[in-house]
Amino acid sequence: MNLRIVVLPGDGIGPEVTTQAVAVLQTVSDVCGYEFRFESHHIGGIAIEKEGMPLPEKTLAACLEADAVLLGAVGAKKFDGLSGERRPEAGLLALRQALGSFANLRPVKAYEAIADCSPLREDVTRGANILIVRELLGGLYFGQPRGLSEDGLSASNTMRYHADEVERVAHVAFQEARRRKHLVTSVDKANVLETSQLWRRIVGSVAKQYPDVRVEHSYVDSFSMQLVSSPALYDVVLTENLFGDILSDEAAVISGSLGMLASASVGGKVELYEPVHGSAPDIAGKGLANPFGAIQSAAMLLHYTAGLYHESEEIMRAVERTLSRGLITRDLSGRRNRPPVPADAIGQAVVETVSDLLQMQMAYHAV
Ligand code: IPM
Ligand code: MN
Repeated sequence: MNLRIVVLPGDGIGPEVTTQAVAVLQTVSDVCGYEFRFESHHIGGIAIEKEGMPLPEKTLAACLEADAVLLGAVGAKKFDGLSGERRPEAGLLALRQALGSFANLRPVKAYEAIADCSPLREDVTRGANILIVRELLGGLYFGQPRGLSEDGLSASNTMRYHADEVERVAHVAFQEARRRKHLVTSVDKANVLETSQLWRRIVGSVAKQYPDVRVEHSYVDSFSMQLVSSPALYDVVLTENLFGDILSDEAAVISGSLGMLASASVGGKVELYEPVHGSAPDIAGKGLANPFGAIQSAAMLLHYTAGLYHESEEIMRAVERTLSRGLITRDLSGRRNRPPVPADAIGQAVVETVSDLLQMQMAYHAV
């Protein structure tokens, strides 16, 4: 198995967490005798500093040639004053658009080992295992027209969806549900927005092609409340771009911290993998970053891009074992009387565990 992976560490804690994710992938490659090649490029604030734009042509060209892209985070305080296209975030949005990956998968799970790290009660989160399928290339993020008026006193964004955009992401959600608990909850605001009325109609018609999957429709305001009061009731949650952005950060409290969440963007030319957390400039360079989101994004890469399901599961298992050993980062340790562990020590623990798990398996097959 050969894989060419472009790594975009980006800003803030991005480089720290991607280093750990790459170490885990390298271990899989070494132990299993695969050939994973990594190539790093700039994106976001660091790209603006070094190359004058948030998504340099060299970066984009390398991504388009790759089998997969693994990204850290973008965003830096220094550029907060900039508008629109010149912001670090514009680099990420342009990359998502160029790669064409329209379905952003964000798994959220209540890990037993860190159940007491969540601000939610354990009896509330127990058993929760959700996959948020966020539409990634439409809605308010990309709709035209948009902009600030010349006098700076008014601004507008356009929420627009075409039936085809809803249909393609709905298929991804229903197909994922077939591998899970066969339930899709589609979240919209159809009591007010026409885009949501379209969304609901199209999702309903796609659902007819999946008679084995139950479909529910929920309004985003009430759903955002249900999500943290009864998270175990849900399976696949399908929603548009901005709702998905907001709901996935909210859902992170089910896991204990935003730092735990991984994502895969699929459906386009090249798949993009990134943790859900941002660049967290306040803790950058201090060893306090949580690498689990990036490491689990690497596991998703092996699943979705490489079809290495077993290796992907072993990374997930290694993450759970590491958590069970009490190795947690500062974002998780707040509620516990336990000292936080730096990102590189977490990465090292996952690397060793993955290596043991894979070697054990190989020894077993060799007998
Ligand atoms: C995310 C992030 C991005 C988004 C930002 C950094 C542009 O918040 O991936 O959730 O809004 O999509
Ligand atoms: Mn977000």
